[in-house]
Amino acid sequence: MFLLGSVGAGLIYFSQARIDTVGAVEFGTELGIPPLAESEQDASGARVFNLDIESGETLFLDGGPTETWGVNGAYLGPTIRAAKGEKVRFRVDNGLDEPTSLHWHGMHLPPDMDGGPHQPVGPGETWTPNWTIDQPAATLWYHPHLHGNTADHLYRGLAGMFILDDDNVDQLKLPAEYGVDDIPMIVQDRKFDDNNQFDQSIPFMSTSGTLGDEIIVNGSRGPYHEVTTRLVRLRLLNASNARMYNFGLSDDREFQLIGTDGGLLPEAWATDRVQLSPGERAEIVVAFEPGETVELRSYEAEFELGDMAPARLNGDEDRFDIIQFRAADTLTDETEIPAVLASAPDLDTHDIAEVRTFELEGRNINGERMAMDRIDFGVREGDTEVWEVTNVNGYIHNFHVHDVQFQILDVDGAEPPPDLRGWKDTVLLIPDLRYRLAMRFDGYTNPDMPYMYHCHLLTHEDQGMMGQFVVLGEGEEIGRVPQQAATH
Ligand code: C2O
Ligand code: CU
Repeated sequence: MFLLGSVGAGLIYFSQARIDTVGAVEFGTELGIPPLAESEQDASGARVFNLDIESGETLFLDGGPTETWGVNGAYLGPTIRAAKGEKVRFRVDNGLDEPTSLHWHGMHLPPDMDGGPHQPVGPGETWTPNWTIDQPAATLWYHPHLHGNTADHLYRGLAGMFILDDDNVDQLKLPAEYGVDDIPMIVQDRKFDDNNQFDQSIPFMSTSGTLGDEIIVNGSRGPYHEVTTRLVRLRLLNASNARMYNFGLSDDREFQLIGTDGGLLPEAWATDRVQLSPGERAEIVVAFEPGETVELRSYEAEFELGDMAPARLNGDEDRFDIIQFRAADTLTDETEIPAVLASAPDLDTHDIAEVRTFELEGRNINGERMAMDRIDFGVREGDTEVWEVTNVNGYIHNFHVHDVQFQILDVDGAEPPPDLRGWKDTVLLIPDLRYRLAMRFDGYTNPDMPYMYHCHLLTHEDQGMMGQFVVLGEGEEIGRVPQQAATH
């Protein structure tokens, strides 16, 4: 590591990828908690949310604000919360000077409500998607998905959490008081230029995209949180463009992993590390002692990347401070982690309609880059398929599928580790390992309007590491992407 010297409280290093902030962060800002989005009931019984996309300014550093984008505010957006069975409707107003979109990451919903590349919202326009929540309690999120601009729009600040509830989670005694013992944590890395503006430049030879050397959580830089309860649930979301995190506590204590992308695990898993690639979520429960101070950090990644050293997302010495927890002298103790959290993923894999192979390399999936008007394949409504996905590249990719949550059957023939045993919509692809994903396509058919699958390293996605599939009803054939949608 090449240490240049220190400026203010931060350290500056030559390498954009390898940084170490451990012990260097001051924790001077109370963690901001995104407000819960307000809603009104309309005549049809749907809950209506207004989401205004706007530009603004945010004070991250001394010496002047940063130009940012946000939803109902200058940076990030409110947390949307809805329960299984509820009808939701959104009025998404684009107050920017350019088109963008809002995609509901992890949501099972009709393809024309998905907010992907085919649902752009022009400047001054309003988009009103609506659907009925039909999946278990989970920590999902929303972010722009305009083809070619996703990295830029997310980096500027368009993202928020989307928390789903259901009857099962309601009757558990998990920590559930939003902002008190149930804490949303939108984790992002950012780089600032000399004028305090976001620096999205991608270094020469970088294979992963923009990597920042500062960590912000919910838009707070150097955050702390006052703990008042013995157990605290953290909803961790990696909303970074390219960086990976390997979360752990500063004294290496164990915590309980209770949920992943698609909802609660069948049972809690005691671990001291949880790794998230861009787009992934983890719900963990940490037990605190009265009066103590503990930091959540990100440690170096725990897998081998072979000899592609420049491609490392987190190099050997990458360690960051994320947040400091300050426990009060007395802690209330009214929650617990039950032995059984939820039912395990249970797709019937004796009746697989189709096995598909996906190879990720460079910016291609199976040798092709995204084309807005090319539908790569169709799946049948009601079918269960197995997708065999391999990163043959030597450097990092992950894999995300819209509309469904998948079950990981095995990783290169081995039983998946405990953190990959629940429902997932995004999975890190360690090079050369074959991930077998089972998924069932239920509910919404449309031969003309595709869902996406892609690498969630956003520069890769923008450069075309994405494909499109449609869900077909009985007797339907693959159609054509509507002209207007295809040209945006
Ligand atoms: Cu989080 Cu296709 O996206
Ligand atoms: Cu990638």
